[in-house]
Amino acid sequence: MAEIIHLKTDSNSYDIIIDSLKKIDLDKYSKILIVTNPCVSALHISKLLSCFNHKYTFICTLKDGEQYKNLASIESILENAFIHKLDRKSLIISFGGGVISDMSGFAASIYQRGIDFISIPTTLLAQVDASVGGKTGINNSFGKNLIGTFYQPKSVYIDIDFLSTLPKREFNAGISEIIKMAVCFDRDFFIWLESADLINNKKDLEYAIFKSVSIKADIVCKDEKENGIRAGLNYGHTFGHVIELLGNYSLYLHGESVGMGMCKANNLAVLLNKLDIKDSIRISNLLKKYQIPTEYKIQDLNDFYDRLFLDKKSQNNNLRFILPNDIGDMEIITNPPKELLFEAMSI
Ligand SMILES: NC(=O)c1ccc[n+]([C@@H]2O[C@H](COP(=O)([O-])OP(=O)(O)OC[C@H]3O[C@@H](n4cnc5c(N)ncnc54)[C@H](O)[C@@H]3O)[C@@H](O)[C@H]2O)c1
Ligand SMILES: [Zn+2]
Repeated sequence: MAEIIHLKTDSNSYDIIIDSLKKIDLDKYSKILIVTNPCVSALHISKLLSCFNHKYTFICTLKDGEQYKNLASIESILENAFIHKLDRKSLIISFGGGVISDMSGFAASIYQRGIDFISIPTTLLAQVDASVGGKTGINNSFGKNLIGTFYQPKSVYIDIDFLSTLPKREFNAGISEIIKMAVCFDRDFFIWLESADLINNKKDLEYAIFKSVSIKADIVCKDEKENGIRAGLNYGHTFGHVIELLGNYSLYLHGESVGMGMCKANNLAVLLNKLDIKDSIRISNLLKKYQIPTEYKIQDLNDFYDRLFLDKKSQNNNLRFILPNDIGDMEIITNPPKELLFEAMSI
């Protein structure tokens, strides 16, 4: 299956190509810096290098893991760019999962006030979500993705064959973001997912990737800077980011934290009489089908509550949550009653 999805924002316009990776024309660039990690490099760099032939190609290999999505890694990318004398006509290629794409995009956005970058995502999560839409960033001790920019790539190449080497747990974590898109924006897609088999049926997987990217591209076109509808993509993330932080970015994967976060959001939506409990169970069941954790015991409710305020959606000390009203429809709720929020957190 070959599909091209066009994404147009105020700042950029680019294609997301879903196809097996073939020739990439990079002749117009003076130098190429590929940013990757040891795992992706060992498995797939030869395939990437066979797709273009550029005399000035350099590789920056970062440590693998969410715990390295930090300023030190950004410095390392920038240092590589300076050592190899990249100029404003040079290109950064992001080659890896969401951690690599968030950091490569960030580095590209600040190196000499911004140079081109393209994204070649190699995890399911990055293919359906992180590589599309131009949010870049890193974590710090205060929380997740709190430093970053909006910076769109010049193109995105999604090759499903890269996923053949992805560990099962990572694959399943990516499905969490697919379910997120369906719950917030597309009821028919959710119903389709309930009977699909994304693990054993390649056609189902291809369709789910195409559909998720289409949904995300459509939302980013309408609201690049997240002043409205794009916030819906953060469903599950307000709780999920705290779960991720409390696990030192290593206990749970991002997609797993989001899965548990969606269930906490659903608890709140049910308590606020917005979501039917039967639909909340349907969402949990779909997550469970792919072994995504749906339950998380919060040890210290007050501490967890305080940490929710570090979320980027929180404004003027107001807490904002993306809650489903129904499958396929979401709403942004500001400052729900504290006792209901605590009850939702304790389930
Ligand atoms: N910018 C956005 O809009 C956006 C959206 C969603 C998520 N994110 C970010 O994405 C990150 C999570 O991304 P992720 O789940 O891809 O994690 P990741 O980048 O850490 O990749 C997961 C693991 O899979 C390995 N890997 C990558 N490709 C592989 C392959 N083909 N075969 C075998 N192993 C492979 C990696 O080395 C890593 O160990 C989070 O930091 C999250 O904040 C960003
Ligand atoms: Zn996410």
